[in-house]
Amino acid sequence: MCGIVGYVGPKPALEVVVEGLARLEYRGYDSAGVAVLSDGKLQTEKRAGKLANLRAALKENPRSADGIGIGHTRWATHGAPTDGNAHPHVDNANRVAVIHNGIIENFAQLRVELEERGCKFRSETDTEVVAHLLSEELAERGDNDLGAAMRSVCRRLEGAFTLVAISEDAPDLVVAARRNSPLVVGRGDGENFLASDVAAFIAHTRDAIELGQDQVVELRADSITVTDYDGAPAPVREYHVDWDASAAEKGGYEYFMLKEIVEQPRAVADTLLGRVAVDGTLTLDEMRLAPHELREISKIVIIACGTSYHAGLIAKYAIEHWCRIPCEVEVASEFRYRDPILDRQTLVIAISQSGESMDTLMALRYAREQQSRVLAICNVNGSTIPRESDGVLYTHAGPEVGVAATKTFLTQLVACYLVGLYLAQVRGLKFGDEINTIIGQLARMPEQVDKVLQTVEPVRELARSLADAKTVLFLGRHVGYPVAMEGALKLKELAYMHAEAFAAGELKHGPIALIEDGLPVVVVVPSREGRSVLHDKIVSNIQEIRARGARTIVIAEEGDDSVRPYSDTLIEIPAVPTLLQPIVATVPLQVFACELALAKGNDVDQPRNLAKSVTVE
Ligand code: M6R
Repeated sequence: MCGIVGYVGPKPALEVVVEGLARLEYRGYDSAGVAVLSDGKLQTEKRAGKLANLRAALKENPRSADGIGIGHTRWATHGAPTDGNAHPHVDNANRVAVIHNGIIENFAQLRVELEERGCKFRSETDTEVVAHLLSEELAERGDNDLGAAMRSVCRRLEGAFTLVAISEDAPDLVVAARRNSPLVVGRGDGENFLASDVAAFIAHTRDAIELGQDQVVELRADSITVTDYDGAPAPVREYHVDWDASAAEKGGYEYFMLKEIVEQPRAVADTLLGRVAVDGTLTLDEMRLAPHELREISKIVIIACGTSYHAGLIAKYAIEHWCRIPCEVEVASEFRYRDPILDRQTLVIAISQSGESMDTLMALRYAREQQSRVLAICNVNGSTIPRESDGVLYTHAGPEVGVAATKTFLTQLVACYLVGLYLAQVRGLKFGDEINTIIGQLARMPEQVDKVLQTVEPVRELARSLADAKTVLFLGRHVGYPVAMEGALKLKELAYMHAEAFAAGELKHGPIALIEDGLPVVVVVPSREGRSVLHDKIVSNIQEIRARGARTIVIAEEGDDSVRPYSDTLIEIPAVPTLLQPIVATVPLQVFACELALAKGNDVDQPRNLAKSVTVE
């Protein structure tokens, strides 16, 4: 879950690499480093802490570079985030530099072997073994073939990795390898790039190449060669990135998260674009699962982590209601360890913004081994999870840089609704006009989200007033329960506060004992339309907690006067169909968490201990 960048070409390599790292800092930010060839000599600089520390070090000690460089921003797995453990790592002769994303599982054994052969280790990382192995391999070969050396080393590694190396022995070359970890190549004109994410090089080129599993790429200024680990030419997919550098920049906002929150109406609209054919039927082009396969499905299992898991919990309500197919939702990290019952008739839906979460990837691989069909819902084109799935539905949220998922959550919801409706369509469970009615309601969502965004100033004020609170509880029912969970997660990750969500009906079974004088409790109230029983029950829940001293913060649809007498703060959201309410109800909770975190002085784009893309289990 680190960020890597490589460049070869006529531009000042150091600048290109550091600029690329700035765009990848969301992937990890506990240390950063670069390696360049300067007059044929390998030079490295690395610093613990954010990229700013590395920039300061480079300013103090400026380097020229020969147009070849690699850079890394780290999220520590092996070894503390210190200068010494920061990447790149070099061999003992200081001729080879390596950066790495992932975990080399057999590194301990390899390290023992290398130490026995006299290698001196300077870090606690798993990565350093690769620098020494490459060095040994180059010495043994004697032909300066860094690509061949990398292939040979990769055959000895176990685990998940993207590795990038440069060497004084091959001064025109950047070599990279991947296994179960992201790597994309950017094809330029007389220059080439590689990175964990296209965002790193989008300012230079939008022509990308997606590498497959167990492949090695050799990048020169005028050529890109991809092989498998045995050196045979390997197939790759070339594609054009349909967003530009400005989409990955802050656009005048102090934080990406603030920008990404206000981008939500556009993101929702874009995710709906092009889904309905001229004859009014829903068409999901990248679905790749034939209608007859979808008609055979007898059970759906949704696997995901964090915010994506919350999207899955909401999807369950919609899919079961519209399609009458049993739907389970499970945290991906738990899934394969409980021996789940899967077969060919099970459709597994893997939801992942990044398409790289290792927990979700491993769960989907397990599902495919059990012969289940897998459909991915993902925001990153060409990432591993959609590539390894039978079908994919891309959310079109654009790049999300802030670590906290916001616009991608709303677009995941839209994608889940589309999947539910599509299943209902192919299984003949809904008439076309019924589906079109719901699509029409979805099409109005961007406007409704925009309305929420126009009216959130009081939510910001409320958040600032609660900056000293120790705990905030969240309650919801039906689809409002996962919304409450998402609200609590946002507050934990951004404001570092204790926050917990409960199904409001569960209160009386224990959690009500937590209620004390002044405790802030956010309650997501279901629509009165269609779910009046639930609505009335939650109004009773609000009265119960208020009677015990809670400070009630109530999110309810506009015009719902029944909650007004029991709300210390009432946050009104537009009245929308019950199943779609999460799209509007989540937005004030995102704003609330973001503002409260800012009031505490926290960095909302890069909260402590977190990374955007979690590529370790
Ligand atoms: O990329 P993914 O959707 O697979 O990521 C899953 C979680 O790591 C992610 O949603 C995380 O919980 C977010 N930081 C929440 O805001």
